[in-house]
Amino acid sequence: DWKMQDVLDEEIRTIQSMVGPDEHVICALSGGVDSTVAATLVHKAIEDRLHCVFVDNGLLRYNERERVMSTFESDLHLPVTCVDASEQFLSKLKGVKDPEMKRKIIGREFIAVFDDFAHKLEQKIGKRPGYLVQGTLYPDVIESCPPPGSGRTHSHTIKSHHNVGGLPKDMKLKLIEPLKLLFKDEVRKLGSILNVPESFLKRHPFPGPGLAVRVLGDVTEGNALEVLRQVDEIFVQAIKDAGLYDIIWQAFAVFLPVQTVGVQGDQRTHSNAVALRAITSEDGMTADWYYFERDFLVDVVNKICNNVRGVNRVVQDITQKPPATVEWE
Ligand code: XMP
Repeated sequence: DWKMQDVLDEEIRTIQSMVGPDEHVICALSGGVDSTVAATLVHKAIEDRLHCVFVDNGLLRYNERERVMSTFESDLHLPVTCVDASEQFLSKLKGVKDPEMKRKIIGREFIAVFDDFAHKLEQKIGKRPGYLVQGTLYPDVIESCPPPGSGRTHSHTIKSHHNVGGLPKDMKLKLIEPLKLLFKDEVRKLGSILNVPESFLKRHPFPGPGLAVRVLGDVTEGNALEVLRQVDEIFVQAIKDAGLYDIIWQAFAVFLPVQTVGVQGDQRTHSNAVALRAITSEDGMTADWYYFERDFLVDVVNKICNNVRGVNRVVQDITQKPPATVEWE
């Protein structure tokens, strides 16, 4: 793709001329396509002066930490430190039900972990890192705050996406946002040129606040996170097995803090309901729900109710965006 090759060459040149020869750059990897492509691009430009961190915030999906770390290390040879901060995040989220509050807490905690990483790094390399890489895309920018002259009119914040703005004020890091003008499909093309594995590039988007916006209400209540991880894994794996993963933009489960009555093995149960959401989209700005075949859904629902303890009801979200957002919170 000549256009994306040009974008890549141009970005590499820009980064090389911006970052001095003895300056260091840090990057937070989320495990998603965007930050991974951004980091791989910057790594190509400045090599080992890039330092990445991957934070396990306790809100990751089933086996996600192991899966992404193995890609970073074995496939991409990116220099990544993995920080397990799950206790720290979950203790701060205890009792919090308001969606915006959850996002703010997660954003703040993330900054604290990141700040700590930067300070430790500074001690190690004897120099303060001067730049921060972010995998911000064009839709993130315009949904959080439309850039002047973009022709976009809405000026309110729809949701506080934690990867836009909100940086530690005293860190004085300059931003490198090589994907700021690109849409998702363009980022995937760029990643492909950079030899990011195809299976990784095709990963569905995943929100920065992770499963916190998919467990409605208090994330720490009961074993909600564990139940959600299992349901989500069954659903997404079934989609992969059916060969549908690549035509669906995003598919995931949502944990509902709702108990319903069921009957399982001649027993009356009073346990949790979960929701499934699968959408098609061009850029995440608008979305349509995906129409599964009946047999597929019957099979998935059986798998979920038979294998996940504490779930006796499954509903499907059939709302477009708008009026609904992709995530439930
Ligand atoms: P919504 O729910 O706003 O989501 O319709 C649009 C797309 O953005 C993802 N999303 C986020 N991504 N940080 C992110 O990096 C966030 O805080 C965040 N919130 C939503 C969502 O998964 C969908 O792809």
